[in-house]
Amino acid sequence: MKRAPAAIWILICLAITSCRASMPGKLESDVASWTKRHVTVQGGGKANPLIANASTLRDGKEAFEHYCIVCHGLDGQNTGVPFAATLDPPVPSLVSRDVQAYSDGQLKWIIENGIGPSGMPASRGILNDTEIWSIVVYIRHLPPAGSLGEPRVYSGEESEDGSK
Ligand code: HEC
Repeated sequence: MKRAPAAIWILICLAITSCRASMPGKLESDVASWTKRHVTVQGGGKANPLIANASTLRDGKEAFEHYCIVCHGLDGQNTGVPFAATLDPPVPSLVSRDVQAYSDGQLKWIIENGIGPSGMPASRGILNDTEIWSIVVYIRHLPPAGSLGEPRVYSGEESEDGSK
């Protein structure tokens, strides 16, 4: 009982110092992230017409392997992608809370339109609706990090999809 007030003060001090130290950067990135989520990225209300099952998941994984793994890795968690962390903004892990917090419709919008002016490209005209929705299914069911190995393009082996 006697020690309780001291412990409370220590907690308050810790809270104040850690808040102060991270305030400007955090506020800035909170504003940017809020704007992205609520203004830039649209399509939030659209539901995925595909049901997640073995077949749609396999289709999504296949399309992802053709168009996304050079930056996101086979597992969507950047495994084996040498520049993932050095891009600005960096390539995010697709299992992260921030990415998973998008609705299915928003994920589809992101894949279609990309996130300009970052490195995330638009796939409108390259992927059709069904392919994009199946990728959304895959993003919701990504395998454990590292479980699929690295993209062949970085391990020096031939890759059939070239660099396009
Ligand atoms: C040339 C590299 C590259 C390719 C190819 C690429 N991405 Fe990305 N992706 C990025 C980068 C960089 C970001 C971070 C963008 C940002 O935060 O502004 C990103 C972000 C994302 C996000 C999260 C967006 C957010 O707001 O947090 C999703 C979802 C995503 N990519 C899915 C995909 C899918 C699916 C494909 C394949 C159809 C793909 N990406 C292809 C580089 C790439």
